[in-house]
Amino acid sequence: MEKPEIYVTRMIPMDGIDLLEKFCTVVVNPEDRPVTREELLNGVRDADGVLCLLTDRIDAAVFGAARKIKGIANYAVGFDNIDVAEATRRRIPVSNTPGVLTDATAEMAWALLFSIARRVVESDRYMRTGKWDGWGPLQYVGGDVTGKTLGIVGAGKIGSAMAMKSRGFAMKVLYTDTHSNTVLEEELGATRVSFERLVAESDFISLHVPLTEETRHLFDAAVFSRMKPSAFLINTARGPVVNEKDLVEALREGRIAGAGLDVYEWEPRMADGLIGLDNVVVTPHTGSATTSTRVNMAIKAATNLLAMIRGTPVPDCVNREVFD
Ligand code: DGY
Repeated sequence: MEKPEIYVTRMIPMDGIDLLEKFCTVVVNPEDRPVTREELLNGVRDADGVLCLLTDRIDAAVFGAARKIKGIANYAVGFDNIDVAEATRRRIPVSNTPGVLTDATAEMAWALLFSIARRVVESDRYMRTGKWDGWGPLQYVGGDVTGKTLGIVGAGKIGSAMAMKSRGFAMKVLYTDTHSNTVLEEELGATRVSFERLVAESDFISLHVPLTEETRHLFDAAVFSRMKPSAFLINTARGPVVNEKDLVEALREGRIAGAGLDVYEWEPRMADGLIGLDNVVVTPHTGSATTSTRVNMAIKAATNLLAMIRGTPVPDCVNREVFD
């Protein structure tokens, strides 16, 4: 019997490819860069399943081109790059990779938090100039972390992990979410508050919401003006949750103290002026980039895709209604 064909839009860790190759013919984009639109439309044409990345826009045109497709596995927990409503209309299951990247992403949020509060990257840049002439009382003075208020916007898996890791720093934790998080409340004494209160009272605001029409530009000029001038914004979620032009203005004018960003509104582009500012630390969307996390994401995406091909229950299906 002919093996099903899988199209992988960019190389992922081999563990995922090896798993797929046991049962399928796997075609991987040979270039280590995002596929072009044309390559994507051609690549999906004969595929029974597609393993795609957050950089691939999977919309009606792609579904239209993919005549044989039985499922799409996204190599990410976020799936705002996929028109899930269209997939559902066509009864195509879509999956993501929840759970395996929770700690890695929360760790990155903490790395950004410390880097920006304690001016680590700025200091590193200075040390490399060779101009340091010894210890000084006014050099690279930053913000405190211990005992401060941490505001978590979106207390799902990653937001909760971010909050739980604050335990060593005796922080007061506030959070917003559509649901109460009893674990955070019982174990940390965290308080679910209104968005307005979180914005006004937090010293650090860390974003952990998915990108939806409701969360797009959740943070804009009006919100920045209600944050403490000493507060820091951390974003490891999705760039468009923040109006990046407004953020540049807020940082430039000192309306907030700083930002640690792993994601951008128009990736891979950053808003004009952003990288000219000292009060921002930027990383290239590497929240999940640890060796084991990326391997586990590959295995998870491959496992989901194999289930779609075989018609067995899909562990991380985001549109289960296609099976009703
Ligand atoms: C995700 O999974 O959504 C991250 O942004 C990348 O791993």
